[in-house]
Amino acid sequence: GAPVKVNIAKVEPGQQIVAEWRGKPVFVVRRTEEILANIKKMDKRVVDPSSSEAQQPAYAKNEYRSRKPEFLVLIGLCTHLGCSPKYHPEVKAMDFDEKWLGGFHCPCHGSKFDLAGRVFKGVPAPLNLEVPPYSFEDENTLVIG
Ligand code: FES
Repeated sequence: GAPVKVNIAKVEPGQQIVAEWRGKPVFVVRRTEEILANIKKMDKRVVDPSSSEAQQPAYAKNEYRSRKPEFLVLIGLCTHLGCSPKYHPEVKAMDFDEKWLGGFHCPCHGSKFDLAGRVFKGVPAPLNLEVPPYSFEDENTLVIG
């Protein structure tokens, strides 16, 4: 399929938008400094902190799993059985285990992921969410694929 262009100029800090690429939802989140700090705190609470088992392009093999720390780009399908997780940046909103600092929650069997798409310990999903191939055409344009 052809690459998909997404205008990210209006994505607010902390906001998620959902694009579509090859029939799959693609989550794009503009992460705040607080979110980035929380990712570091999650290292011991996720199954695969360095995402060694996850599918991602080489340029996303880093702490924040992204080309730019500010932008998270993920395939929005749970690695358990393929439901689409919901965005929950504020953990307080759902009264979850306080050790989870927010991210994505799968409604099907309760898997939780942090704001780098890494799977929280003790849930059914086996792998971190996949990072698709992407680039930035300019400051306001994300190209997926
Ligand atoms: Fe997401 Fe099962 S499909 S937890």
